[in-house]
Amino acid sequence: MTRIPRHVAIIMDGNGRWAKQRGQDRSDGHAEGVTSVHNAVEFASDMGVGYLTLYAFSTENWNRPQSEVDTLMHLIGWAIERELPDLLAHNVRIRLIGDIDRIPEGPRQKLLNSQQTTAHCTGLILCMCLSYSSRWEIVEAARKLADAVSRGKMSISDITEDVVADNLDTAGIPDPDLLIRTGGEQRISNFLLWQIAYSELYFTDILWPEFGKADFAKALLDYQRRERRFGKTSEQVSHEAETDSNTDTMR
Ligand code: FPP
Repeated sequence: MTRIPRHVAIIMDGNGRWAKQRGQDRSDGHAEGVTSVHNAVEFASDMGVGYLTLYAFSTENWNRPQSEVDTLMHLIGWAIERELPDLLAHNVRIRLIGDIDRIPEGPRQKLLNSQQTTAHCTGLILCMCLSYSSRWEIVEAARKLADAVSRGKMSISDITEDVVADNLDTAGIPDPDLLIRTGGEQRISNFLLWQIAYSELYFTDILWPEFGKADFAKALLDYQRRERRFGKTSEQVSHEAETDSNTDTMR
């Protein structure tokens, strides 16, 4: 419990394959995936994780068959509305990330309502990435900064890493410490490309509908065994950890 990641991000993959393995419709896989979302949120909240970011619908997912897009949109709206009392009971705050204006009116209102209703919550921050892609987000940030420069509100030399980060949709959210991808693929799929520069990556073959609390715990244990160096040497990192723990004892 001493090295719980502050921020965990998850690429929830494998819903379709889970359904196919059972001779069911892909939408059954997504529906079952909502149970895994519920469990992951509860587990992250119980463990004291500060931020949980879920890749719920990518910009590229708009290109799926219309019937699947419709099902997913309906499901996301339905799930957020159903989960709202439980989220409030767990003091979970919702933060929406992505091109939310593209979400159809019905589910969009439910999502915006959940964000507003949980705005006072001080526990886990649940970031839901919807109609999100990292390249979209970076292009949007570049446009905002170019606009500010062209209006004379800032100069080119004012553009630093912090300024870019502050103009992303994830502004104010610390970078993920751990990125989990379920479903067996080992790729990032246009997710948080800027933010995961130093994140620890964890890939599992488990399909998202089967990813339970014990699997999440396994990912956290794996993370805890890793040494995060942020470009420094192992010796520097251990020396800093020692100095920190001495300072803690002196306090
Ligand atoms: C990827 O599996 C999963 C998605 C595109 C959707 C994930 C959405 C949910 C689990 C519902 C989220 C609900 C809330 C409230 C956040 P896939 O369809 O790509 O699976 P496959 O790779 O096996 O085809």
